[in-house]
Parts: sequence; C-alpha cells; structure tokens
Amino acid sequence: MPIAIWSTRFETGIPIIDAQHKTLFDAVNRLADSFKAGTSATQAKESLDFLLKYTVEHFQTEEKFMKDMGYPKLTSHMAEHAQLVDKAKGLQARMAEGKPVTVEVTTFLADWLKHHINEVDMGYVEFAKAAARK
Ligand SMILES: [Fe+2]
Repeated sequence: MPIAIWSTRFETGIPIIDAQHKTLFDAVNRLADSFKAGTSATQAKESLDFLLKYTVEHFQTEEKFMKDMGYPKLTSHMAEHAQLVDKAKGLQARMAEGKPVTVEVTTFLADWLKHHINEVDMGYVEFAKAAARK
C-alpha cells in the first residue's frame, strides 16, 4: 500500500502543477519501497536523489508562477520550500555518511507533501483563480 495516495482533493486544476505533484507522490512512494527488505542502499540513495532533484525543479516552477502573478504570500511560501529542501539535503548527507535513515522519513515526506499542497499551495491556486475572474 503506497504511503502517498493521490486524490482529487490535491488537484489544483493547473495541469503542470498537478502533473509535478503526482510525480512527487510517486517519488515518495518509490523511496518508501526502497526501504523494504531486500532493497539495496544504492536504490534508496537513487530514490532520494531523484526526489530531491525533482522537488527543487518543482519548487522553481511554483515560485516562478507565484512571482509572475504577484502573489503576496510568496516569501512565506518560499520559506516552507527552503525548509523542506534543507531537510532533504540533511537526509542525503546522512545517507552518504552511511548513517541510518529509516522508512519514517518517507512518512514525514508524504505528510509534508499532503499538508503543503492542501494548506499552502491552495493559497496561490485561489489567488490565481480570483485573478482570472477579474
Ligand atoms: Fe508549494
């Protein structure tokens, strides 16, 4: 059973953002799978590397979108992004040093993703919709 299950409540209605969010859900699930018995450390490392790389790209897409429309909560939104990137880089460093990184990490990432989309991303979605109505 995947830990990050996509549902319509995560849909923003913005195709590129929804596609990227779905890829992030898949990437978190792949990382969770890589912690299962019989999976190599290399696979876990590759999954985390991909997740981090893709997350950074996705945040850039969102931040450009928010900047372009003059979204007033850009700074605090970017701060949440930066915190997550720091956290993921910390995990990457732990893994590189051979320190234990457990499956709980993926639960944290899945929860963060769901919270962030529902509570934070939806802020710019509402703003974009309101702007489009004007
Ligand atoms: Fe975001």
